[in-house]
Amino acid sequence: MNVKYSDSKLQSLPFMNVNLDLDERVEDLLSRLTLAEKFKLSSGKLMWHTKPIRRLGVKSFTMYDGPHGVRPDAMGEIKSTYFPSVICRASTWDSKLSYEFGKSVAEEVREVGAHMLLAPGINIQRTPMNGRTFEYQSEDPYLNKVLAVATVKGIQSQKVAACVKHYICNNQETNRLTVNSEVSERALQEIYYPAFKATVQEADAWSFMTCYNKVNGIYGSENYNLLREILMKKWGFRGFTVSDWNATAYTNTAECVKAGLSLEMPTAKKYSKKNMKNSFNEKKFTIDEINENIRRLLRVMFLVGLFDDEETLPKGSRNTPEHQELARNIAEDGIVLLKNKGGLLPLNIENVKKIAVIGPNKNFRLGGDILSGGGSSVNYPPYEITPLEGLRDKCKNKVEIIEDPSIADITVIFAGLNHNHGMDSEGEDKEEFGLPLEQVKLIKETTQKNSNTIVVLISGSPIEMEDWIELVPSVVEAWYGGMEAGTAIANVLFGDVNPSGKLTMTFPRKLSDSPAHSSKRSYPGNDKVFYDEGIFVGYRHFDTKNIDPLFPFGHGLSYTNFTYENLTINKEKMREDDTIKVSVGITNTGKIMGKEVVQLYIQDVESSIERPPKELKGFKKISLKSGQMETVVFELNKDDLSFYNPIENSWVVEKGKFKILIGSSSRDIRLEGKLEYS
Ligand code: BGC
Repeated sequence: MNVKYSDSKLQSLPFMNVNLDLDERVEDLLSRLTLAEKFKLSSGKLMWHTKPIRRLGVKSFTMYDGPHGVRPDAMGEIKSTYFPSVICRASTWDSKLSYEFGKSVAEEVREVGAHMLLAPGINIQRTPMNGRTFEYQSEDPYLNKVLAVATVKGIQSQKVAACVKHYICNNQETNRLTVNSEVSERALQEIYYPAFKATVQEADAWSFMTCYNKVNGIYGSENYNLLREILMKKWGFRGFTVSDWNATAYTNTAECVKAGLSLEMPTAKKYSKKNMKNSFNEKKFTIDEINENIRRLLRVMFLVGLFDDEETLPKGSRNTPEHQELARNIAEDGIVLLKNKGGLLPLNIENVKKIAVIGPNKNFRLGGDILSGGGSSVNYPPYEITPLEGLRDKCKNKVEIIEDPSIADITVIFAGLNHNHGMDSEGEDKEEFGLPLEQVKLIKETTQKNSNTIVVLISGSPIEMEDWIELVPSVVEAWYGGMEAGTAIANVLFGDVNPSGKLTMTFPRKLSDSPAHSSKRSYPGNDKVFYDEGIFVGYRHFDTKNIDPLFPFGHGLSYTNFTYENLTINKEKMREDDTIKVSVGITNTGKIMGKEVVQLYIQDVESSIERPPKELKGFKKISLKSGQMETVVFELNKDDLSFYNPIENSWVVEKGKFKILIGSSSRDIRLEGKLEYS
């Protein structure tokens, strides 16, 4: 069995034959592996690699972080494009940009010789205090799903595996390694599963990363129900699972194998040779079970071309002007204009003489430094344009940049957070909901000196603003905008780019308004964190409880105006297999070109169990010139009206009335229509 092949003999083995069917190649290779080799393939080495099986020409499969760019080494020797943080990309509400991001970052993965990107992270933003909020997309399952599918498709278009993480209910960093997320089946089905499921069913994701935490009492890496039953059997996942780095720490070898964990990373622990052997000899798992896990891993190795002639694979590219331009486009389209009283923005470069640029984040460099840089999502860009540099460049020879607000026409304060521990960072949650006190003081003092003060937030999660928001006319959420952030911000402030980003997460007025913060057991919990809010996450909670948020889900202003009219629904009644067409005319009635995110929500008017007053079921981002009109069309079917019934343990749609709500945000509904399911 343990034959050592010559190179030419190896080339003639069936699994090396590119003309053979993928599954035949996989089965052939699997049949040639010894049990010891299967054990060897089950765990990683040197942080980012699998172990090669030289005898059979199985090379190392290499995987790197992360969600904002590829990081092949911890020291930053190898530079790569630093894209905007995930929350910024999501705030574009533009699935094309997510696809392009996925494709471009995968080109960089290819270029550095790797096979898998440890992204996208798609955990639901359950609380604004989660240290990794900036790495995730949304509080809403529908938006999360659309963007996740596009990202995975983009990544895999380059024959690079996406690794969808962290499966599942890894919604906080406090006690992340051990906490037990206690969550109801209905909340899993309606809120937490949909995006993960869609990456399997709509994008054929090649890999899933298991979470550190327990879900309803069982760790993610040994959770038979989550992995084998739901992911593999129910959803039809054909890829392989990999543990989060050391997420197997408190698990059991055989339980992980049986649950379907293919690969333990970063090194062998529960899957060490000894543990595997003993466990197997004691008949704690079967040959079929280990075969199934390895089969899945091999299949992806074939898919990424590990056995193919390098010449035939996409070459990839890194740090190209195209990637940098994409990073800037995402940053520009993800910036959210939160408030703009009196139309202070955009600034007119011809009229402004002096701008005071102040605040702790004006010189902020976001990339680099893995330890104080937000954790695993960090990468090292070849350059980075800070907010101040972006403004300097824009103002060159036209506007003087100074530091004293009292003699300036306009003051821009770059406030916000950073990736230090206790802020937007991995491994710990945020310590405070508000800005650091010295920043609040700075804002207050500055507005006394200059009423034309704009606050630009560089941050990755909702922040409390109650004690200063009324003092400033304009507030811009610029997120962590990647290597081109400074240029993107300057373009938005001066109107070269009309802002079109919309919030993917509700900004509460105070933390206690937020659904996970009703008690200590629901956040941060202790050994257990109880998801007591159930399906009422994000705006579903604010709407149900009638709480006024600071800025609602879907909110984001523009420098132009859009009118919504002529809502038409092509049928009044929907039956089982019908697809309903909903159309609405959007006109740009302002003076400049702009982009609008048209949002469709449904409301179940009569329901046997409680449902949220509004659920997002469609959105379209359109670009309109001044005066231009476009008809936006949405399609709805019965799935869009359904909910998960925990009594029947299934998705159901009940006969009766529904409302269709079309708006510019979840709290700015412009048109309402009716539909009946019969
Ligand atoms: C993070 C993952 C990351 C992995 C490898 C873990 O701590 O949770 O998101 O991909 O490390 O760096």
